[in-house]
Amino acid sequence: MSARIERVRDSSDMSSRMSDEVREGLQKRPLPELPSKYFYDDRGSALFDDITRLPEYYPTRTEEAILETIAQEVVDRVQPRELCELGSGVGRKVRLLLDAMAHRELLERCVLLDISEGFLIESARQLDADYPDLAVRGVVGDFLEDLPALGAGGGRLALFLAGTIGNLHPDRVPPFLRDLARQLDPGDAFLLGLDLVKDAARLHAAYNDSAGVTAEFNRNILRVVNTHLGADFEPEAFEHVAFYDPDNAWIEMRLRATRGMRVSIPGANLQMVLEPGDEIRTELSCKYTRGSLEARLPGTGLCVEAWYTDPDQLFACALLRRSHETIPSEEEP
Ligand SMILES: C[S@@+](CC[C@H](N)C(=O)[O-])C[C@H]1O[C@@H](n2cnc3c(N)ncnc32)[C@H](O)[C@@H]1O
Repeated sequence: MSARIERVRDSSDMSSRMSDEVREGLQKRPLPELPSKYFYDDRGSALFDDITRLPEYYPTRTEEAILETIAQEVVDRVQPRELCELGSGVGRKVRLLLDAMAHRELLERCVLLDISEGFLIESARQLDADYPDLAVRGVVGDFLEDLPALGAGGGRLALFLAGTIGNLHPDRVPPFLRDLARQLDPGDAFLLGLDLVKDAARLHAAYNDSAGVTAEFNRNILRVVNTHLGADFEPEAFEHVAFYDPDNAWIEMRLRATRGMRVSIPGANLQMVLEPGDEIRTELSCKYTRGSLEARLPGTGLCVEAWYTDPDQLFACALLRRSHETIPSEEEP
């Protein structure tokens, strides 16, 4: 079989969305911001992959170790016929679940959805080559807007790993979970990777690695805006800032101007003046507890069936089940 690749939006739609989102974000005051999904062109995705191997960056190896331990149990509980990973990246972790499905002769379909087209195509092709009996579908889309492109549920196990849900502002989490639950049938399941609240020093180190890879990843967002919107940001004129905010239980990443500058972003019809020390917020990474996740579940049609963590309680994988609860459509009040 060969992997099927679908694009939810054409390039002019993608460009006009980017233009609107960048303009709206950079006009926010007191703190301008850029949507973190724009880190991920090919270079940004490769830099993120480098981050996952850094000694300070515990989330990837911890989540992988949890998945290695639980994959068979999760598959045996859910009996999925389709795996569906949102924000799939290099698509390595999904293999742990696919192998467990193969072990029970359940391997049928796999859908990868990601905004980073080059990486998505490559990982869909590699899955296709390595699992010849699997029907692989790659969907180039936005998990905040394009979940209906997944199609109707049924026998589906959705995955959202790496703590990527932490990049959503907490207010956006319940609507996101409702949107996802609409693509699940009662009995379908959702395995969610969550970075847990912990010691601030450990969090700080994970986002301020000594090799400077996270700083380069952070600055990449400016390169993406330059490439797609014709902007003239000088990434090297910004320093990487990442700190833990215990009141909100999130890491915030920012870029701080090291000198005064005027930036033109013609594709967003915007000029920006920055003074030395001015900052642009580029990412939130919310840290969770079981309680803070459960507080966001009422009305989403999802409930926690199992909670798996590592011995040091650094990271968790929550297995959520789609209940029979009716989720109101978006139009209904
Ligand atoms: C933190 S990485 C995780 C990658 C991979 N799942 C892992 O476990 O290593 C986040 C992934 O989500 C993708 N992504 C970020 N925002 C997105 C969005 N709004 N819609 C679709 N994909 C998005 C990125 O391209 C990237 O591959």
